[in-house]
Amino acid sequence: MLVLVLGGNSEIGLAAAKQFAEKEKADIILASRNLEKARENARDISEEFGVRAEGMAFDATAFDTHPKFYNDLADKPDIVIQAFGVLIKQQECQEDFKKARQVIDGNLTGAISILEIVARDFESRGAGTIIGLSSVAGERGRKSSYIYAAAKSGLTVYLDGLRHRLYGSGATAITVLPGFVPTKMVAGRSSKFGVTPLETAGKDIYEAWKKGRHKIYTGKKMRWVMAYIRNLPESVILKRRDL
Ligand SMILES: NC(=O)c1ccc[n+]([C@@H]2O[C@H](COP(=O)([O-])OP(=O)(O)OC[C@H]3O[C@@H](n4cnc5c(N)ncnc54)[C@H](OP(=O)(O)O)[C@@H]3O)[C@@H](O)[C@H]2O)c1
Repeated sequence: MLVLVLGGNSEIGLAAAKQFAEKEKADIILASRNLEKARENARDISEEFGVRAEGMAFDATAFDTHPKFYNDLADKPDIVIQAFGVLIKQQECQEDFKKARQVIDGNLTGAISILEIVARDFESRGAGTIIGLSSVAGERGRKSSYIYAAAKSGLTVYLDGLRHRLYGSGATAITVLPGFVPTKMVAGRSSKFGVTPLETAGKDIYEAWKKGRHKIYTGKKMRWVMAYIRNLPESVILKRRDL
């Protein structure tokens, strides 16, 4: 088994990759903008789990490079974990469209660009799983994060539609909705709705694949927390200035 992690230095992506290395003895490719760091992480995985692991250069927003990146892979992956993502403070995105665009491209456009290429390959081989990391943020627009949330909402719908397209082909897509996981992306931030430990997030992603699930939250409580938030009346949300 070969697992390709796009955004290969993502802490959640790495936690999931380690589960596949440990439990399936999967070989791992970490594809990242930071090749040096990806190689370092690959060496660690290789030493810890006795699998082949390597780093590769990949930029999710260099859209034109995506066909060549995928075509050049000597062995095509069985599982692709789309782990890259960009979070910039909402206020900064409101004030500067360039930043809003980075968030939209880094979470949504880049995912569509590379995953359409992967999906074509998986469809023609009649096998393979795409695991996309979206976010609970995309389930309800709130003033604290609505540009990131809009991009993630788009990604969630994209992954749902991709799974529908692939149904019956032998290939599939899993939508992952992490809640708050303490990684470098959210350093300095806190959560009102609980924290999912990094290792739990990695295990939940692996279990979702193992059990053939379509869409999951990471962490046990998140499904119920989000059911509550999704169902709050708009008139209540509008008055909550802290969300
Ligand atoms: N942590 C949370 O609470 C949380 C909650 C919900 C959803 N998520 C989502 O889960 C995914 C993983 O996040 P994480 O928590 O593991 O954060 P992370 O450790 O910061 O990982 C995000 C990774 O995305 C990579 N990236 C950003 N732009 C890229 C680009 N243009 N090309 C290639 N890679 C790029 C970054 O790579 P560099 O190393 O090159 O900067 C970084 O390593 C993200 O999609 C995030 O939105 C996270």
